[in-house]
Amino acid sequence: MLDVKNEALAQIVDAGKINELGELKIAYLGRNGKLTKLIKKIKDLSAIEKKQAGILINEVKSTILDALATQKNTLKESARDWFDASIPGKKPKIGHLHLVTQAIREISSTFEKIGFVRARYPEVEWDWYAFGSLNFSKWHPARDEWETFIVDINPHPKYGPMALTPHTSSGQVREMMRAKNPPIRMLNIAKNYRRQSDISHVPMFHQFEGLVIDKGISVVHLKGTLDYFARNFFGKNRKTRLRPYNFPFTEPSFEVDISCGICKSKGCKLCKEGWLELGGAGMVHPTVLKNGKIDPSKYTGFAFGWGVERTYMMKAGLEIGDIRLLYSTDLKFLRQF
Ligand code: FA5
Repeated sequence: MLDVKNEALAQIVDAGKINELGELKIAYLGRNGKLTKLIKKIKDLSAIEKKQAGILINEVKSTILDALATQKNTLKESARDWFDASIPGKKPKIGHLHLVTQAIREISSTFEKIGFVRARYPEVEWDWYAFGSLNFSKWHPARDEWETFIVDINPHPKYGPMALTPHTSSGQVREMMRAKNPPIRMLNIAKNYRRQSDISHVPMFHQFEGLVIDKGISVVHLKGTLDYFARNFFGKNRKTRLRPYNFPFTEPSFEVDISCGICKSKGCKLCKEGWLELGGAGMVHPTVLKNGKIDPSKYTGFAFGWGVERTYMMKAGLEIGDIRLLYSTDLKFLRQF
């Protein structure tokens, strides 16, 4: 009996894997196990011997079971500590920048090459900077087009109520006040908010706004800048065209179109007779210069402001049917870009 016990304990301590312990359990305690066979022989013993053998067998059985449990724990612990530094690690899945961030970086670097400097002005803005200083009188009907979210606080005695800024033009007079003296070459890229949501509008979107003020700045400089952007951002054969428009803060004002990259300006179902609408532009209105403490008899300037999302969607090869998808957090959609 003691031989069986010693043999079992030696094998249990030697076992290097948990499944070996299972095999040893069967070998000693299973139906035909070595200890079981001894138990079967008890019936041949005398009554006194039977009693002693019974006590001994129970002790040996529980010693073997304890040894199996202890060895199992030891093996589990050592498996946990095991670490092979030479095995290649699991590579985490790496994401990428959101399409709009990619667009902002590309637009910035295109304009930075010709001397524009990035700026960013408040997203929650006084009415004065968003509208008043830009030559919108208090009840000007054009304010309706900006479908503005007004913040529910007491209006400032001088600057009026607060709003979630509906366009980056609200940075124009702030930039003039900051720079104090021209030349100014600002590129303001920021979030804007309007009460709009459909396939071509989102309630939160980004605009990039260029503002250039210096002596002798004319529409020629505006057109040259827009053509430079069209060639470098959309492709070398793309051109822009200016159509007369009306904004209270520019005079003259224009809508800027870009030649269609699909039909090469011949006219197709994607464009209007060969042209796609990009956004607004114009020569800075003298009243706006005055509001920014710049003398309009000495300085002139131009400004343009376009939507980042829509401009990027127009880039060759990118056809996104619904602008809201950009903010849908649908990974299947976003992983494409
Ligand atoms: C303006 O916001 C003027 N501040 C632009 C400007 C700047 C004119 C400087 C002259 C000088 P408009 O409301 O058209 O203009 O908006 C300009 C562009 O912003 C649009 O062409 C469009 O690309 C984008 N945009 C406007 N509203 C939304 C919206 N809800 N969702 C996505 N893009 C929008």
